[in-house]
Amino acid sequence: MLDVAAIRKDFPMFENNPDLIYFDNGASTLKPQPVIDAVVDFYARHTSNVHRGDYPIARLNDELYDGTRDIFARFLNCSPQEVAFTHNVSASMNEIIYGAAKAFMKPGDVILTTQNEHASNIMPWFKVQRDFGIKVEYIPTDVQGVVSAEDFEKAMHEGVKAVCVAQQTNVLAAVQPIKEMARIAHEHGALMIVDGAQSVPHMKTDVKDLDIDFLGFSGHKMCGPGGTGVLWGRYELLEKIDPMIYGGDMNARFYADGKMLLQEPPMKFEYGTPNIEGVIGLGAAAEYLMKIGMDNIHAYEKELGDYFRGRMKEIDTITLYNPDSTAGVVTFNVKDVFAQDTANFLATKGIAVRSGNHCAKILDGIIGTNSTVRASLYFYNTFEEVDRFVEAVKEVTLENAVSIFF
Ligand SMILES: Cc1ncc(COP(=O)(O)O)c(C=O)c1O
Repeated sequence: MLDVAAIRKDFPMFENNPDLIYFDNGASTLKPQPVIDAVVDFYARHTSNVHRGDYPIARLNDELYDGTRDIFARFLNCSPQEVAFTHNVSASMNEIIYGAAKAFMKPGDVILTTQNEHASNIMPWFKVQRDFGIKVEYIPTDVQGVVSAEDFEKAMHEGVKAVCVAQQTNVLAAVQPIKEMARIAHEHGALMIVDGAQSVPHMKTDVKDLDIDFLGFSGHKMCGPGGTGVLWGRYELLEKIDPMIYGGDMNARFYADGKMLLQEPPMKFEYGTPNIEGVIGLGAAAEYLMKIGMDNIHAYEKELGDYFRGRMKEIDTITLYNPDSTAGVVTFNVKDVFAQDTANFLATKGIAVRSGNHCAKILDGIIGTNSTVRASLYFYNTFEEVDRFVEAVKEVTLENAVSIFF
């Protein structure tokens, strides 16, 4: 069990906002002091660019920035040379999808995904469908967005060259059987690509054990600074794919006749000056999470999530869209009340949640609505906060929710 009271002391947001119940962790998480210190230290003590300077603070930043690859090598069980830093998971998925489609797919080849996906994991596929003639097909899911290995196997066919899904989806927190899917995808000669935005912050991720080919995730959803992301890929695949954006630092040489030599991976994916302080802070975030233990975080969030779902089931005006989720995410609507009105009402009680379609705009094909309220927890949330949340939700009625505007 986690010592959540001690953990909360690491997050100044709690001291500075004593009445806030922050249940919007799926959107972005709070930052612990070691992450804040890493970023502030960079600004106050050792600001410089990276990979360019020969003076001591520039060398220190090279060590800290590139050293963050070693931290993620431990975090993901991979080689540091397989870890490229991006600006967010959207950038990571765009690089991976463009690169994989260009290098490994031809017109008419199929990519399998689900109708659960966030815009950042499906729009890049629509783009390569438009530009390269790749075909997007969907794996059926159950009403809570979960793919079964059997349905997945049935959806596979000779034309499928890539499978790309979120390990944990962003609205329903459907956790997909990635290891099983990777095995089946590989048996059919297809790549297994994973959007880890909502899974990597909440569970142990071992890319070797999952046996996947590419993974993307965002730093700001795992206690790290904004504007940071990770692109992981098997080294031999990273060598074969072309980066989407060209510029400084990622090239080894270029010539007047247009010939370009790129750096080896992962550097060829890091164009221009990176978010140096962000990446250093992200390293501090990964160390912080590993110190608590990803398995401990996962177990605590499951317990808290189960308790939360149990309590929400007590309220008969609630439609719960993911009653069987194993994650710390509760997605619901209150009868007759528009999701955003519920969120606004909860805000009057100091509660932060997200409402709307959550950038998953074709999920309505699965749940029949494109507007829900999502309460998403992290390891620093408490049972007491859940109780306060449930009491607030009990007060949500059409009249109460609308009356806050008048
Ligand atoms: C599953 C999933 N993929 C992609 C994204 C996009 O994340 P970002 O805005 O950090 O690029 C999100 C954000 O909520 C997400 O939940």
